[in-house]
Amino acid sequence: MFRSTIIGVAALCVATQAVAQVAIAPFSLPPLPYAAAALEPAIDARTMAIHHDKHHQAYVDALNKAVATSPALQGQSLDALVAKAGTLPAVVRDNAGGHWNHSFFWKTMAPPTQKMQPSPALAAAIDAQFGSLAAFKTAFKEAGTKRFGSGWVWLLVKSDGALAIASTPNQDNPLMDVAEVKGTPILGNDVWEHAYYLEYQNRRAAYLDGWWQVVDWKTVSDRYAATRAR
Ligand SMILES: [Fe+2]
Repeated sequence: MFRSTIIGVAALCVATQAVAQVAIAPFSLPPLPYAAAALEPAIDARTMAIHHDKHHQAYVDALNKAVATSPALQGQSLDALVAKAGTLPAVVRDNAGGHWNHSFFWKTMAPPTQKMQPSPALAAAIDAQFGSLAAFKTAFKEAGTKRFGSGWVWLLVKSDGALAIASTPNQDNPLMDVAEVKGTPILGNDVWEHAYYLEYQNRRAAYLDGWWQVVDWKTVSDRYAATRAR
């Protein structure tokens, strides 16, 4: 009994660490885990540099500014702010989400030469939920192309352990109290125009197709395993 409790707590810690953003203000911009050009040709270097150095930095700066002027928000982790986003001022919700989502996004990708695939466990779960990896990709692309305006498309693990695809507006995500479909994201794609416009212009569907070349399935599979270990 005691041993199983220890194992359960340990598993929960691992699962939380898989996607956790536990730092508190002042928040800082994490470095890209690869060179800005490393994801070419799927995502060009200039887009990556502007996206990371300018857009993500702007979310960090705006979040720090908002928290600095609100004593009630100080000392809280990014995860804590995200979890209660619906109760917070829009500037905090938007920029906490922006910081969380982009920190997660950079780590969701890897250079295309690595040619990774989902782990056997994740592949089986995708097959069970969506029919096949190809069918999952089609459904994910559809969710991304249908998102009106700016937002994100996610693969997440719901509280019952089932996989689901969800799209969120602006900088919301499935961890937020306001999310229509709640759960732990294990993969997410940014469908704001700033993520693809220089290379793809209005062709969001082409960006969503090309993006699969740079998905880091090892990281996504590790996140899935950690979530399922809870
Ligand atoms: Fe973005």
